[in-house]
Amino acid sequence: MGFYISNSLIETYRFRSKSRKIEHLNGRNGNTGLTAFVMKKIIEMIKIRDGMFIMDVGCGDASFFRMLLEEKPIKKNLTLIGVLPSEEEVNRVKKYIAKKFQHLSRFPSILQSKADKLDVPDKCCDLLICNSVLHGNGQTLSDFKKALVEFNRVLKTGGKIYIGELPDVNEMNGKNYGNSLIKWLIYLKKEQGFRSFVRGILNIINSTISTEPFVFVPKHMFYISNNDLYEIMRYHGFQMISKNRHLEINAAGEEIESKTRWNYLAFKNADFKE
Ligand SMILES: C[S@@+](CC[C@H](N)C(=O)[O-])C[C@H]1O[C@@H](n2cnc3c(N)ncnc32)[C@H](O)[C@@H]1O
Repeated sequence: MGFYISNSLIETYRFRSKSRKIEHLNGRNGNTGLTAFVMKKIIEMIKIRDGMFIMDVGCGDASFFRMLLEEKPIKKNLTLIGVLPSEEEVNRVKKYIAKKFQHLSRFPSILQSKADKLDVPDKCCDLLICNSVLHGNGQTLSDFKKALVEFNRVLKTGGKIYIGELPDVNEMNGKNYGNSLIKWLIYLKKEQGFRSFVRGILNIINSTISTEPFVFVPKHMFYISNNDLYEIMRYHGFQMISKNRHLEINAAGEEIESKTRWNYLAFKNADFKE
């Protein structure tokens, strides 16, 4: 049996690192096509130059770095550091990278650290990516602010920061199923249709007869309006460059705008002082 109740985002992914499918470390219900699409969009949006020191905080299965390293022309002398918060996730991803990145000229390093305490020196980083992490179930405004203080510390002045998939509304609204599997299945049928309902049943069966993790996540998440985010970023020493609605692909493979999530690109223009 693989049923777990999680009290934080870190714990959720610690449990998910037991999954047979590494793509579950990216969220998105393990949809690898969607993850590839999202990573491609990030690479298009940020300008990566030779010699950069890049950190991906909350890097999941390191899909971002894999796509970056597969890009032509190959960028030279990059320092790539993927950050994951739990030992279990770090070990899982390190093993995966050793196999899956073999065809590439270099590997990223995987560092066990948390967004609010990154084990790297001050002002070492040219570009910091943090996609689909800071809002996750269990996260709070206080966690978000602590992460910004730390991002400011590790970034060089002028260094860029990409914060992706940050919602401006509470995506948990209407999800009143608590930790009840029956209520969750009823929610899936009503809100997402028959296919999701069947997928839900299959997931439950799978976690009943195997150790595949089924995680009950915390029921609160962090979300913030564009205006409030601009204000908080400014306070923490960042100037916004751009914002755009997050793009996804639907079941028909069409590009669609997320109704809830935004992507932000900013740069550090001042050291943070309390
Ligand atoms: C939804 S996945 C996103 C993975 C990847 N960034 C992507 O967009 O595909 C969230 C990732 O953030 C990590 N994470 C959760 N809390 C974190 C924290 N406090 N600091 C750093 N990483 C964290 C999780 O372990 C997981 O790898």
